[in-house]
Amino acid sequence: MSQFRERVIDFGDAGNNTRINGSPKGWSLPRHYYKDPEIFEKEKKAIIFNNWLFVGHSTQIPNTGDFFTYQLLDENIIIVRKTDGTVGAFYNVCRHRGSAICKRESGKTKRFICPYHAWGYDVDGNLVSARAMPEDFKKEELSLHKCAVELVGGMIFINLSDNPTSLSNAKRDLAEIFEMYDFENVKVAAHKTYPIDANWKVTLENYQECYHCAPSHPEYALSHTLKVVPEEFDELQKPMESRMEACGVKNIVLDQQYDKQEEGQEQYAYGRYALFEQYKTGSKDGEPVAPLLGNLKGYDHGGSDLNIGLLSHFFIYNDHAVVYVFVPTGPDTSACQQYWLVRKDAEEGKDYDLEKLTWLWNVTTLADERIIVDNQKGINSKKYEPGPLSDMEYLIDKIYDWYLAELEKAD
Ligand code: FES
Ligand SMILES: [Fe+2]
Repeated sequence: MSQFRERVIDFGDAGNNTRINGSPKGWSLPRHYYKDPEIFEKEKKAIIFNNWLFVGHSTQIPNTGDFFTYQLLDENIIIVRKTDGTVGAFYNVCRHRGSAICKRESGKTKRFICPYHAWGYDVDGNLVSARAMPEDFKKEELSLHKCAVELVGGMIFINLSDNPTSLSNAKRDLAEIFEMYDFENVKVAAHKTYPIDANWKVTLENYQECYHCAPSHPEYALSHTLKVVPEEFDELQKPMESRMEACGVKNIVLDQQYDKQEEGQEQYAYGRYALFEQYKTGSKDGEPVAPLLGNLKGYDHGGSDLNIGLLSHFFIYNDHAVVYVFVPTGPDTSACQQYWLVRKDAEEGKDYDLEKLTWLWNVTTLADERIIVDNQKGINSKKYEPGPLSDMEYLIDKIYDWYLAELEKAD
């Protein structure tokens, strides 16, 4: 639930103020954007495959040969710890006749052996064995295809474009934030995928507004102030802000997303907002559910909202972080991949309980799944037509402008 970074917006007069596709500004998008397979093909090219996507944390693959695979639409990517200690990413496509070479979702290996004719690749992606091939056969020209991969504060991001946008500004600006929470030294304590029968934009839009939080999320609304109207919001920040310094939480606001994205750079944003006073963290009773992250010294009763790229979003409490990745799985299906991060040295059963750690965002995401699917059902009707957005949905309006401009580049 992204925060109100700018709370005053001007949607303009919908009748006279149109977007580049001719639809009214400040209103939801026409139906075909959520249904049309041709639009989806354009989106793949223009947006989905050139977006840095969170796929996991480097602590999942600590040693050479440790790997996991990641599926994005038709593409399957092997993410592996290479011999030089860095993280590599390769398309799971044999250079012989194209078979998938790695069938396991995770594990450890010295070689990836293709199950079809047994060509073998090392963990650096080099072809090292191929039976009964002619003498002039050049193995060195048939390494696995590389996929762009970057580590940001220990978190692994991939990008499926051959000419990806740069993460350099994001890495520079987020370094101080990741140091504060010591994101290099967290681990994935839990991971869950929620399949959603709705177009990926319906799923993403839902996360970009908290207009729905009060009616749809009774559990979340008890602790998170984003459900309040903008006028009350500033007042609720003050107690948290007075505690931040003593808790070691730096007051940083970054906004390089949508209309503020720099040309050639991936978008990102970060900001903090207060929880209701009796909540130290996002848990059922407001009490911590894991040890303090990184260099933090206490609870300021707040949480930080972060996103890198269009689809990877984070909410960082003082004791844990939750990652939500909104992944397109087809023209009218998507998924929310959720990860719960705690400090690496925390022990399950002693320092954290999985049920307590995951409770809030599990119930919240199940409710989101229900309302998103209902939203898509209505959009599928012949009677659906764009409707006016509220002030609390201002980010959706920004997304539409950004999205339509990107889509146009695919033409
Ligand atoms: S397709 Fe992989 S060895 Fe033939
Ligand atoms: Fe929600």
